[in-house]
Amino acid sequence: MCGITGYIGYREAYPIVVKGLQRLEYRGYDSAGIMMYDDGNIRVSKTKGKVSDLEVITNSNEDSKKGNIGIGHTRWATHGVPNDVNSHPHTSMSGNLVIVHNGIIENYDTIKKELVSRGYTFESDTDTEVLVNLIEEVKKQEGCKLGKAVQLALTQVIGAYAIAVFDKTKTNEIVVARLGSPIALGIGKDNKEFFVASDASPFIEYTKEAVYLEDEEMAIIKLGKGIKVRKINDDSLVDTKTQELQMSLEQIEKGGYDHFMLKEIHEQPKAILDTYRGRMLADKGIIRMAGIDDNLKKFTNADRIIIVACGTSWHAGLVAEYLFEDIARIPVEVEYASEFRYRNPIITDKDVVIAISQSGETADTLAAIKLAKSKGAFVFGVCNVVGSSIARETHAGAYTHAGPEIGVASTKAFTTQITVLSLMALKLGKEKGKISTPLFHTYLQTLQLIPNKVEELLKIDDQVKYIASVYKDATNCLYLGRGFNFPVALEGALKLKEISYIHAEGYPAAEMKHGPIALIDENMPIFVIATNKGHYEKVVSNIQEIKSRAGKIIAVVTEGDETVKEIADHVIEIPDTEEAFTPLLTTIPLQLLSYHIAVMLGKNVDQPRNLAKSVTVE
Ligand code: G6P
Repeated sequence: MCGITGYIGYREAYPIVVKGLQRLEYRGYDSAGIMMYDDGNIRVSKTKGKVSDLEVITNSNEDSKKGNIGIGHTRWATHGVPNDVNSHPHTSMSGNLVIVHNGIIENYDTIKKELVSRGYTFESDTDTEVLVNLIEEVKKQEGCKLGKAVQLALTQVIGAYAIAVFDKTKTNEIVVARLGSPIALGIGKDNKEFFVASDASPFIEYTKEAVYLEDEEMAIIKLGKGIKVRKINDDSLVDTKTQELQMSLEQIEKGGYDHFMLKEIHEQPKAILDTYRGRMLADKGIIRMAGIDDNLKKFTNADRIIIVACGTSWHAGLVAEYLFEDIARIPVEVEYASEFRYRNPIITDKDVVIAISQSGETADTLAAIKLAKSKGAFVFGVCNVVGSSIARETHAGAYTHAGPEIGVASTKAFTTQITVLSLMALKLGKEKGKISTPLFHTYLQTLQLIPNKVEELLKIDDQVKYIASVYKDATNCLYLGRGFNFPVALEGALKLKEISYIHAEGYPAAEMKHGPIALIDENMPIFVIATNKGHYEKVVSNIQEIKSRAGKIIAVVTEGDETVKEIADHVIEIPDTEEAFTPLLTTIPLQLLSYHIAVMLGKNVDQPRNLAKSVTVE
């Protein structure tokens, strides 16, 4: 993971780079560092901790902020514990080259031994310090410029990287390169300034013009001259396309909320609406999705759909399994991308693979896509980040249009993924003749009401807050659901453990009898999703089983429910809807609950320990 950012131009670089790092902290926040170049001096400041800790250091030395050139890094540790020395930027032994790196150099040990035999010494345990010294050694051996040295060095490297390198002896340029980790370049007017970042958020207030590097590409960014992009392996020049950024500053700020997670929970009515806007014409009974319309036969002739994803996106995939099988009658398998890619899966050209990813950068999901493509499958992406690697790597796709999600715990990305997948299931059900026209219309009308229902549901915040105050000190929690809501139980448990560090398990309600029931006592809160559709009576029986073992029951029920109210310790009511769409509602109170518990426990809600939003390493 990690976030990198950089600036070269006429403005003070420090505020741009530091603000940029703050926006990239979703990618990792174990340590932070910055290099500033000013009047012949390279000044590196770095520390374990967050960008705010870095600022404490730089604030105590005004010189460390000087200059119009800077590169910065916020780290999610892979090689070497997060401490000051292992923090980026890393400097070559001569002190001339400085690098920031997002990724992993897998063969760093072999390269390091070779460099040690040539007299190099190392201060840190990182693979990155090895890379910057390799570039230095190549530069020395070949007598070439920085760009060529970076290119030649990278051909010796196995692994993944997004790097930005600065050379004290060539102060009008920054060299960047990517393989497997993203890099966006912001282009200022008249080539007078340039920005480098892991995504475009650090520079949106300065320029809307961006170039995204592809894998195995590098760029030499030269003040006054522009950007030259070439292929790392064959040296050919790349004709780059400048993209106009759609992101706005308001979208990436908290907008009055205490945390991004709370803001994003509250954005869900609009995000869901934005997801189906222009695609679902409920009154006309039409769903238009270009990615499917253009490849309809691939879907309708598919033997099966294989869904690959990680984390919360994998949970959305599980909901999709119920949606596709129930509505479109297409067999579905849902796979952890990390398992799928390594288990020699049987895939044919009659399979459709759907990759779900908020960031569009998750390394395992990307690798799973490449594998599926190599076996001839048609690969469809469901991504939030426009122009992301997964969006580009897939044959076709549908964006979720959730807007930037910054809180590490995913919320609106999940519900918008489910919305896109619902539209897909409905469209395919219709195309395959598996769903009657009246039912199709009913589904469309019902889906259209979901944003208002979510809006309504968000008003229960105080009630959920009270429940959070009762159970915040629990050490173990169980989440149960059946059918469409079994994945919601998994997601509810994941949300709680991610941000409050309370151990939580999600289970299909009936499976509880086969193990977790042994954990139940009067200290154990059990969150049960028991909406009035589907397997209601069965879930009620499961609730009775918990009750007779003295467990505390917090049930998510359909409004007006009387039966569960009698048995449960607390009930949270959701508006009535079709069973297939209940996950879009039942998820909301569980998100709020995790949020409030984490806040009450004083945890860092938006940046939970050890996690990162975008996992670009395997
Ligand atoms: C990380 C994030 C999760 C996310 C998962 C998959 O673990 O912390 O919130 O669900 O990656 O990310 P993706 O961007 O592929 O959906």
